[in-house]
Amino acid sequence: MIYLDNAATTYHKPQSVIDAVVEAMQGMGNSSRGSHSGALKAARTVYDARCKAAALFGCSDPSRVVFTSNSTEALNIALSGLFAPGDHVISTDLEHNSVLRPLYRLQAEEGVLLDFVRADRQGCVDYDDFEVLIRPETKAVVCNHASNLTGNMLDLDQIGSICRKHGLLLVVDASQTAGCIPIDVEKTGISVLCFTGHKGLYGPQGTGGMCIAEGVEIRPFKVGGSGVQSFSKTQPAQYPTRLEAGTLNGHGLAGLSAAFDFIAETGVEAIHAKEIALMRRFYDGVKDIPGVKVYGDFSTDDRAAIVALNIRDYESGEVSDELSENYGIATRPGAHCAPRMHEALGTAEQGAVRFSFSYFNTEAEVDIAIDAIREIARL
Ligand SMILES: Cc1ncc(COP(=O)(O)O)c(C=O)c1O
Repeated sequence: MIYLDNAATTYHKPQSVIDAVVEAMQGMGNSSRGSHSGALKAARTVYDARCKAAALFGCSDPSRVVFTSNSTEALNIALSGLFAPGDHVISTDLEHNSVLRPLYRLQAEEGVLLDFVRADRQGCVDYDDFEVLIRPETKAVVCNHASNLTGNMLDLDQIGSICRKHGLLLVVDASQTAGCIPIDVEKTGISVLCFTGHKGLYGPQGTGGMCIAEGVEIRPFKVGGSGVQSFSKTQPAQYPTRLEAGTLNGHGLAGLSAAFDFIAETGVEAIHAKEIALMRRFYDGVKDIPGVKVYGDFSTDDRAAIVALNIRDYESGEVSDELSENYGIATRPGAHCAPRMHEALGTAEQGAVRFSFSYFNTEAEVDIAIDAIREIARL
């Protein structure tokens, strides 16, 4: 199989990640639950992973890195724990349902007020629109770092400075960029960064987390066992315990820790350069094929390595099936959990076929995919 669905999850993982999970499963206790060697090994593994996450994302205090099972959980914890009835939140058309649905729920059940910065037909926003939407009740901007449909990035430096100027929180969904685009939470002024372990970080599924800035107080989403302060009726107040009730995915975090090492050794810039080169090769190969329409802004390399396209009015699911069955190429059709983005692009009915590239793809694979699109477009 030629795997070009890395925006869903990266398929090829570094061997060191696989080895770390296997090793952890052969002998690991429960982190923060006792002082025998197994428990200490787990605690050290989790703490190391916290330090590596903090280093990767420019967070000076590892205790403000909280682990979750994915970015969906991180986003739910952040969004449900930050806002009160009457608070106003600004988000964008680029968002994934893991941002949209928690926000829609807060709107319906908690009286949180919502506005969206609109995207144009290329999936781009006008940054002036953030300021236009700000009102006295505005508490936060909640936004994607890169769209999982077009790959277009939002300029977090610009959004961060708007948030700083108006005293707003900035909550960022870095699901498509963590590991492949440099992120510095403190320099950018990000209040909460949410990331997932199994995409661009090349870690195991079931891992993810959040980096929480100094002074940002999030109410716990779940409460329960913490291994400390057991006689307290409430969840311990200090991070990370405040948001980590229950046993952590220690085996997965051992893998994520090895994945952070892989990213540090390879270099985020080198990973981005390789992924973007593959994406550009594919984009240049398909963009002028008669009948092919590509979505998104390719005028810059500041983007995720994603190319979404359609062929004439062919149903995206049929094209993706054809690619899988007759060419052995894995892609993702349909709506990609990004309904507002599809509406902005005008693809709500047809969906789109998404090709997404990883560090482990090759130019030869890209060329096979280009030839496949050319053949299907001739049909
Ligand atoms: C932009 C974006 N946000 C959030 C998510 C959710 O990630 P996870 O399923 O790992 O929670 C995804 C996954 O596709 C995504 O692309």
